[in-house]
Amino acid sequence: MSFPERVKIVEVGPRDGLQNEAVTVPAEIKVQLVEKLADAGLPVIECGAFVSPKWVPQMATSAQVFKQVEKRAGISYPMLVPNLKGLELALEAGVEEIALFAAASETFSQKNTNCSIAESIERFNAVIDAAQSEDLKIRGYISCVLGCPYEGKVSFDTVSMITQKLFDKGCYEVSLGDTIGVGTAGEARALIEILAKHAPVDKLAAHFHDTYGQALANIHAVMQCGVAVVDSSVAGLGGCPYAKGASGNVATEDVVYMLDGMGIETGVDMDRLLDAGRFISDFLGREPVSRAATALLRKRAG
Ligand code: HMG
Ligand code: MG
Repeated sequence: MSFPERVKIVEVGPRDGLQNEAVTVPAEIKVQLVEKLADAGLPVIECGAFVSPKWVPQMATSAQVFKQVEKRAGISYPMLVPNLKGLELALEAGVEEIALFAAASETFSQKNTNCSIAESIERFNAVIDAAQSEDLKIRGYISCVLGCPYEGKVSFDTVSMITQKLFDKGCYEVSLGDTIGVGTAGEARALIEILAKHAPVDKLAAHFHDTYGQALANIHAVMQCGVAVVDSSVAGLGGCPYAKGASGNVATEDVVYMLDGMGIETGVDMDRLLDAGRFISDFLGREPVSRAATALLRKRAG
């Protein structure tokens, strides 16, 4: 069995995590959260989304958040962008890296972005062309890779087709979203084996929601196929507003605990990470949704 020596963790809590919170989180709190995540050593922190505020009100302050965060050398601060209007807003805010998203299921594509898969490909082609002319870095996401809340099983061929299109257009990384956390280790592994026929595995990211408690097992499985990028949310925040019942991303604390234990480098300081998780959980008035954070915070309290 071989595992990567180092894993890059992409912290998506301030975007994927908070987008599904019913309580409005003020921009200042989001900025403080991002700063604390930077203190913890996270190399990539997704700070928000330039999506329609009518669709996702929580992300309406994204420009303000992005502008207020003190950018640190060596950390990327990508922002989610669905269309040319989102790109325009991102450029106005001074964003240097964007993340685009498509879905492997027709119904989810309609519910999430009001267009078919084919239309979403046309849309991202236009956004990529415009973003490249501004020298932006571009990350791609595909939702529902291991199952759809509306259609159930999805076709791995569709996931593979979209993955290839995103790489062909120049995305530097493609993140595979198990949006509703239904996948299990065998399927996660089978998906990577299929994608590996046409895509660079070291540029694939695991973006697993933990709805069914399978995310760590799935990450463990795909790391054995060469995946070395993992998306996660501090304190297990989140969900997706267009995937009913989807709970948060796998918690960053759980991922770091597992990787530390396996001797896999992440550059993340667990103590500082716990501070960030405690901070946002206190604001939301609940405990972190992370077994490792709960245990370590209890130990810290003595
Ligand atoms: P639409 O209604 O078809 O858009 O929505 P439209 O072009 O017809 O425009 C309608 C109105 O929205 C207009 O305003 C536009 O100006 C405005 P009005 O004239 O009515 O006042 N508008 C915008 N405003 C701000 N920013 C924009 C923007 N675009 C249009 N970018 C649209 C299409 C894509 C905008 C909409 O469907 C949308 O915002 N969807 C985003 C939904 C979303 O954020 N979902 C969650 C993120 S994805 C996710 O969580 C999955 C992921 O984590 C991976 C995984 O887990 O699977 C990434
Ligand atoms: Mg997600």
